[in-house]
Amino acid sequence: MQEVQKQEFGKRDFIGFSHLDGSKIIELFDYSLFIKKKRKEGSSGFLPLRDKTVAMIFSKPSLRTRVSFELGIHELGGYAINLDGQSIGLGSRESVEDVARLLSRYNSAIVARLHEHAIIEGIAKHASIPVVNALTNLSHPCQVLADAFSLYERGLWHENIKVVFVGDGNNVANSWIELAGVLPFHFVLACPEGYMPDQGLLAAARAKGVSRIEILHDPAAAATDADVLYTDVWTSMGQEEEKQARLRIFAPFQINSALLSKAKPEAVVMHCMPAHRGEEISGEVMDGPQSIILDQAENRLHVQKALLVKLLNHDEYKKFHLTHRLLNASKKIRS
Ligand code: CP
Ligand code: NVA
Repeated sequence: MQEVQKQEFGKRDFIGFSHLDGSKIIELFDYSLFIKKKRKEGSSGFLPLRDKTVAMIFSKPSLRTRVSFELGIHELGGYAINLDGQSIGLGSRESVEDVARLLSRYNSAIVARLHEHAIIEGIAKHASIPVVNALTNLSHPCQVLADAFSLYERGLWHENIKVVFVGDGNNVANSWIELAGVLPFHFVLACPEGYMPDQGLLAAARAKGVSRIEILHDPAAAATDADVLYTDVWTSMGQEEEKQARLRIFAPFQINSALLSKAKPEAVVMHCMPAHRGEEISGEVMDGPQSIILDQAENRLHVQKALLVKLLNHDEYKKFHLTHRLLNASKKIRS
């Protein structure tokens, strides 16, 4: 779980948050604001990924992740190659190690959505190019990066913000916990007993002592005074056989008007999508005035573009931050 600078290749991966410095995440958010603004203004000449190709492996379905990565790479002047994990036979037709080494000969980066988290770690280990986690059974860091950015751009991000995730202790909840290990905030997960998050990630995040992290089983108690109510599907990809049992067990964990009334009046509602109205979230809350769900989805594009520039054209990324710092310093001197 790292953005570990690999000595032998001098490359960076984005597999998770745990090895990141929180200030680097804020730096990435500032760059994401710049990237977002540039797109709104029309940025046809800005091509920091020119001549770069990104191999994207999808072993699970996707709409947002696939579209936002492919479009983002195109907008930055690069080229995305879509690969179906099944058809390339990752780990069956050929070894993870060989796929990682082979793709490194053709491409500038690998973006992968996989079942087993150990496989993305294997790819990162053997690839000589940056590797990005586009969701595994364990985590979904690109999602949570865009989520936290969605709060940051609204001026809502601060160290006492209370983010309450209501539902399954799944991959998205795990990434929130990982984030809490590096950026200070108040994270609460309200989940049924037996649907806890990954215990290793939880222990590691708590051991860092950066954020207050609570795990509760009473959604109403958790939602009290929340700044953010967040949810995700009750049945993640790959768990379809458990769907009926989950519908029963998770029924008290729906985000609806009654639960939202426990949160602060100005609280926002978030969901990573795809969403099932009437299950984890009621239709009136999903489509209501406190929902920022579509902003989150849009921000996947801007934040991932920023991340790719950071990973693939670090000089361009550094240039922005240097200019930004100089501008801020000169503003201070003049004021
Ligand atoms: N939120 C998200 O990752 O959506 P997709 O599964 O459609 O990519
Ligand atoms: N927890 C969900 C997230 C989908 C973006 C899943 O893994 O299916």
